[in-house]
Amino acid sequence: MVGPPSWYQLAVFLFKGKVKMKKILFFTLPLLIIVSVVILLFGVIQVHSQEDRLMDDLRRKAETVAESVELSAKYVLINNDMSGALRLVGKFQNKRRAQGAAIYGKDGRLVAVTERFKDWKDEDRQYHKDVLKKKAAKDNLSKFKKIYVYSYIVPVMDDKGELLGMVEMIYDTSYVFARSMDTWKSIIATLVVLVISLILIAALFLRQMFMVPMEKLTSWFKHFQNGESSKMPCIGKKDDMGGLVSEVEQVALSLKVARKTVSDAASARIDKEEIWTESKLKDLVHAKLGDSSLVVVSNREPFMHVIDEKTGKVKCVRPASGVVTAIDPIMRACGGTWVAQGSGNADRQFVNSKDKLGVPPEDIRYILKRVWLTQEEEEGFYYGFSNEGLWPLCHITHTRPIFRETDWQMYKEVNRRFADSVVEELPAKNAFVFIQDYHFTLAGRMIKEKRPDATVALFWHIPWPNTEVFSICPYQQEILDGMLGCDLIGFHVQYHCNNFLDTANRLLECRVDNEKNSIVRAGKETLVRPFPISIDSQFDSAVSAGESVEIEKIKNDLNLKDKIVAVGVDRIDYTKGIVERVLAVDRFLEKYPEYKGRFVFVQLSAPSRTKITRYHDLSEEIDQLVEKKNSKYFDGSWKPIIYLKRYFTPEEIKPYYRIGDICIVSSLHDGMNLVAKEYVAAKTDLSGTLILSKFTGASRELTDAIAVNPYSIEEFADSIKTACEMSAEEKRQRMESMRRNIQEHNVYRWAANIISEMTGLQKKWTL
Ligand code: F6P
Repeated sequence: MVGPPSWYQLAVFLFKGKVKMKKILFFTLPLLIIVSVVILLFGVIQVHSQEDRLMDDLRRKAETVAESVELSAKYVLINNDMSGALRLVGKFQNKRRAQGAAIYGKDGRLVAVTERFKDWKDEDRQYHKDVLKKKAAKDNLSKFKKIYVYSYIVPVMDDKGELLGMVEMIYDTSYVFARSMDTWKSIIATLVVLVISLILIAALFLRQMFMVPMEKLTSWFKHFQNGESSKMPCIGKKDDMGGLVSEVEQVALSLKVARKTVSDAASARIDKEEIWTESKLKDLVHAKLGDSSLVVVSNREPFMHVIDEKTGKVKCVRPASGVVTAIDPIMRACGGTWVAQGSGNADRQFVNSKDKLGVPPEDIRYILKRVWLTQEEEEGFYYGFSNEGLWPLCHITHTRPIFRETDWQMYKEVNRRFADSVVEELPAKNAFVFIQDYHFTLAGRMIKEKRPDATVALFWHIPWPNTEVFSICPYQQEILDGMLGCDLIGFHVQYHCNNFLDTANRLLECRVDNEKNSIVRAGKETLVRPFPISIDSQFDSAVSAGESVEIEKIKNDLNLKDKIVAVGVDRIDYTKGIVERVLAVDRFLEKYPEYKGRFVFVQLSAPSRTKITRYHDLSEEIDQLVEKKNSKYFDGSWKPIIYLKRYFTPEEIKPYYRIGDICIVSSLHDGMNLVAKEYVAAKTDLSGTLILSKFTGASRELTDAIAVNPYSIEEFADSIKTACEMSAEEKRQRMESMRRNIQEHNVYRWAANIISEMTGLQKKWTL
C-alpha cells in the first residue's frame, strides 16, 4: 500500500520532476478554466450587487439627511442668513466619511458649501437645472478632484410652494469601490487556493492512478529482465489499469516457462551436438546466460544508414567487415545489444532518443546502440591510432606503424566513451560483455573498474605479432594492462595466443601460467584461448532460381562464358595482397600463354579507410597496375583482369563465388580471412579450388586449399596453373573436406565456445 505522502514528499514529488507539471496541467487545464470562469462570473455578479446595495443605502441616507436639512435651509434662504447657511453646511465638516452639503439660491448660485468641498463650484450642472425646472429631487454621480462623489439634491420651497433654492448632499463614494476591491481580492484568493488545490489533487490522483503503477510495472520488468524474481514487486490488483497487470503477468509466466523448457532441453543437448546451428546456439545462450543477454562492442556497426549518392534515398547497408560477418549471425541468434560507432551519414535519422534501433531492419532480432564520434575523435581513434598504429603493427606487411601522441590521447578518450556506453547497458546481475578487436584494448579494464562483477571477453580479430615487433609500440604497457582487465582474450589461432603470452611475460609485470594458458596480473587472472572464427551457413545453400538468372547475367555482362574464372573479394587493404595477386596473374599468363583468352580474374574490391594516405595510394596503385596488365594482354575482345571497385553486398558477392572456378585469397598477413570460408561454403556443387595464402589463420584449418606464399610471385603463378588443371575428382575431394570442416567449425560453434568459456568463468566467481 502506498500511504498519503507528507507535504515534504509532495513538494519533492512535484518539484524534483517526478510528476511533470505539463502532464498535470494537461489533465487539469480544462477543469481549471471552467472553475476560473465560473468564479470570475460569480465575482462580477457579487461585486455588482454589493455596489448596488451600498449605493442604495447611500441614496436612502442622502434622501433622509437632505430632507432634514431642507427645513433649516428654507429659513436660511428666506432670511438670506449667510452665517446661518455656513453653520448649516459646516455641520458636515467633521463627519467620519467625507461628506458635505451645499446650499444654492433659486437661480442656482452657490450660497454655502462645507469647507472640505470648498472647490465645489456653482458650475453649470445639468442636474441642478433639472431640479430647478421640475422642482423635484434628483441624484447624481460625478467626479470631484480624483474621487467619485454621489450627490442628492432637493429643491427648497416656501410655504406657498415657491422655489427658494436647493440643498445638495455630497458623499464621497470611494469606500464603495474600496469594498469592491476587497471583495475582488478575496475572490481571487479563493480562486488561487482552489487552483492550487485542484493541481495538487490532480497530481496525487495521477501519481496514485498512473505513475505509481507505472513505476512498479517498470521496476517489475527490470527485475524480470535481470532474472531477479525475488525483487519483483507486486504490481497491483488484477483489475488495475484496465486488466493490463493480469495480461503482463500472463506473458511473463509464459516466457518463464518457455525459457525454462528451452534451457533444460539445451543443457541436455549442448555436449552431444556436432553441427552447430543458429537455433542450437540460441538454446545454449538461454541455458548459459539465463535471463541475461550479451552486450557486444565493436567499432564497425553491423548496419549503416547511408544516403545513396545516385538516388538521394537512404539505404541500409552491411559494411564489408570480418567482424560484422561473424558477429551479426550470433546476435541474430542470441539477441542482446551491440554498441558500435554510428558512421553512416544518415544513421542519426534512424535511432531513438537513446541512440538505439532494432536490427536487422526487416526482421528485428537485436538492438544496435550507436555511439557518435566527432570528426576529430574518429581521426585520432579510428584512422590514427587504430589503423595507422595498431593495424600495421600487428600485420607483418612492412608498412611502418605511425604512433602519434594526439591519436593515443583520442584513442583513450574514445575507449572511455564506449566503455561508459557499454556499462549503461549492463543488467544488474549476470553481465556479459564481448569486446571486438584492436580498437578497444583499454575498454575491458575501464568496464571492469565500474562493474567488477561483469564477465568481459575480448576477441582479437587480427594477428598478434611477436614480442620484438610489439615492443616498438610506445604505449605497450598501457595496452597490455588494458587488455588484461578482461577475463578472457581470444585469438584466431594458438600461434597468436603464444605470441601474446610471450609479449605479456616479457613486457609487463605479470605471471604467465603456461599450463592454463593464462596471465595473472595484480592478482587477476586472464585466460588466453584460440577460437578460430568462422561463418554462418548463409552461403551454404543450393543455387536458387533467382540466383541462376543473376549468374547468367554476370557471365554475359562480363563475357565469362567458356572461361576459367578466378575470383578475389577484398577490402582494398595492403594486407590483402591484391597487388601480388595481379602480379601473379600476369606471371601466370606470361609463363603459360596457352591460358590467354581462356582465363579471367575477377576482383571485387571494396574501398576502405580511404582517408589514410597509404590506403588512398594503394587504391591508385592497383588501378594503374590493373590497367597496365590489361593493356599488355588486351586482344580486342579479351582482357585478363576485371576489376570491380565498389562496395558489394553479401548477396551480390555470392553469385561471383558460385561462378568462380578458383578463389584467390593472397593476404600478406591475416588473422583468419572469412572470404576463404565463404567461397568454400558457396561451392555447393563441390567444384572450385581455393588458393590460400599461408599467412592467413584460415590456412591452418583449410588444409585442402592450395597454399601459397603471396610474396613468391613464381610460386603464386604456378599455383594458379595447378588450380586450373586440377581434376574434377580432386577438386571434389578437397572441397568436400574443406566444407566439412567449415560446417563443423562454423560461427555458431565459435560463439558457443566463447560463451561457454565466459559463463564458466562467471560460475567460478559466484561460487
Ligand atoms: O577483421 C578485421 C577488421 O579490422 C575488423 O575489425 C573490421 O571490422 C574490418 O577489418 C574492416 O575494417 P574497418 O572496420 O576499418 O572498415
